[in-house]
Amino acid sequence: MQQKEILALLQSEPSPHPVSVSGWVRAFRSNRFIALNDGSTIRNIQCVVDFESFKQELLDKVSVGAAIRVEGEVVESQGQGQDVEIQVSKLEILGEANPEEVKLTILSPKRHTLEKLREQAHLRIRTNTFGAVMRLRSKLAFAVHEYFQQNGFFYMHTPIITGSDAEGAGEMFRVTALDPVNPPTDDNGKVDYKEDFFGKETNLTVSGQLEAETYAMGLGKVYTFGPTFRAENSNTSRHLAEFWMIEPEMAFYDLDDNMDLAEDFIKYIVKYALKHCEDDLVFLENRLLQEEKSKPEAERSAMNLREKLHFVVDNNFIRVSYTEAIDILKNSKPNKKKKFKYVIEEWGADLQSEHERFLVEKHFKCPVILFDYPATIKAFYMRLNEDGKTVRAMDVLFPGIGEIVGGSQREERYEVLKSKMATMDIPEEELYWYLDLRKFGTCVHSGFGLGFERMVQFVTGMGNIRDVIPYPRTPGNAEF
Ligand code: 4AD
Ligand code: MG
Repeated sequence: MQQKEILALLQSEPSPHPVSVSGWVRAFRSNRFIALNDGSTIRNIQCVVDFESFKQELLDKVSVGAAIRVEGEVVESQGQGQDVEIQVSKLEILGEANPEEVKLTILSPKRHTLEKLREQAHLRIRTNTFGAVMRLRSKLAFAVHEYFQQNGFFYMHTPIITGSDAEGAGEMFRVTALDPVNPPTDDNGKVDYKEDFFGKETNLTVSGQLEAETYAMGLGKVYTFGPTFRAENSNTSRHLAEFWMIEPEMAFYDLDDNMDLAEDFIKYIVKYALKHCEDDLVFLENRLLQEEKSKPEAERSAMNLREKLHFVVDNNFIRVSYTEAIDILKNSKPNKKKKFKYVIEEWGADLQSEHERFLVEKHFKCPVILFDYPATIKAFYMRLNEDGKTVRAMDVLFPGIGEIVGGSQREERYEVLKSKMATMDIPEEELYWYLDLRKFGTCVHSGFGLGFERMVQFVTGMGNIRDVIPYPRTPGNAEF
């Protein structure tokens, strides 16, 4: 007998050949209609049982959450909402589920909050919301690879354990095999990392960029897509301690080429979701509409989820220099009325998420690319402009999210990089290999990093980043 997935069945025609389907019960109405889901799609298949032909004992075990297998013919559906259904001839209980426990943990008629489901991250994938989000996450990951592979990029794997701090921000998780109670010490009584597993201090990577640069200098265009780790104590709806980042790096690209690529890439993956994930997007859109009903009218968004996605695909991102942005912010109402938590006083100020969101959501009402930031608030590797005070940095800012991409043209001049590293206290011994790139056929090159979870957040409309990754790691939380 043919074992079928529900996604394929729902697209098939009625047929007298019986099929076999396995899944989890989502509902069982009138001792007759089972709504069955197997994860292949958000849609359930209706399985109709003629209860007189089955023992009531067996039917009693068909409860929400139970795993079952049915056999039967695919017939035209009499009811509304589906074209076909299964007329069940055989029913097998694979795994029972206690209805009371199911109600308390995952599937209750009165929906559980996302916060509550987060505590049950091992079970929440059984809900429609998480099914939709995680299917989209998977499709978006595929779209990322498709985009780069079609555009002449090579996928490279950068190390997860490294000896360097790519961002120079000191937000790293240490990796060590030393005995924490009794570590070996040197003559000064300090922990002696020469005795450690790698013979030096190591940490989990914060970014694969520096290694990606080395490969761009040989392969031309490369990208990474892997986990990155930040030990920053940011308890927000946009930060994770472990997140996945996509980092393309391109030889012979300047900042304008870099911005063009970022815009084109983002549009491609959003378009991909619109094209390939319609059922899940429709579900998430309705979920958002429900959620918005509890908000005051003024706070509700003008566009629904798919309209927002189309808007991004159909409009050019607005490119604005940091200097222009500061002028806009300084003269803005919330700044003058001191409504911002961090009031913008002068050029040079670091932009907070409240400022980024003001620019995108209130002022431009469009995705924005800010470029040419002050050197002092950006990483050491960014190319210094002729003015001597700004660098060729760019951030892509998105509605509801803030910064979704951070990138730059890299400093390719040996002497300039060396002196920048010195002023910013970046140890040269650690990054001699990075400096080497500037000695062997150096060239203009650029790249950026896209936070994958922030992208998934945007596409799914989920408000909290903890709900777009299976097992979120945040300060105080590494459960599962
Ligand atoms: O701006 P960031 O720190 O840039 C870099 O790491 C560069 N090395 C990238 C490059 O040029 N190759 O991080 C890039 C993006 C941010 O724009 C944001 O989307 C995401 O990574 N990101 C985070 N996402 C979730 N949680 C965090 N704690 C994040 N920190 C950064
Ligand atoms: Mg950044």
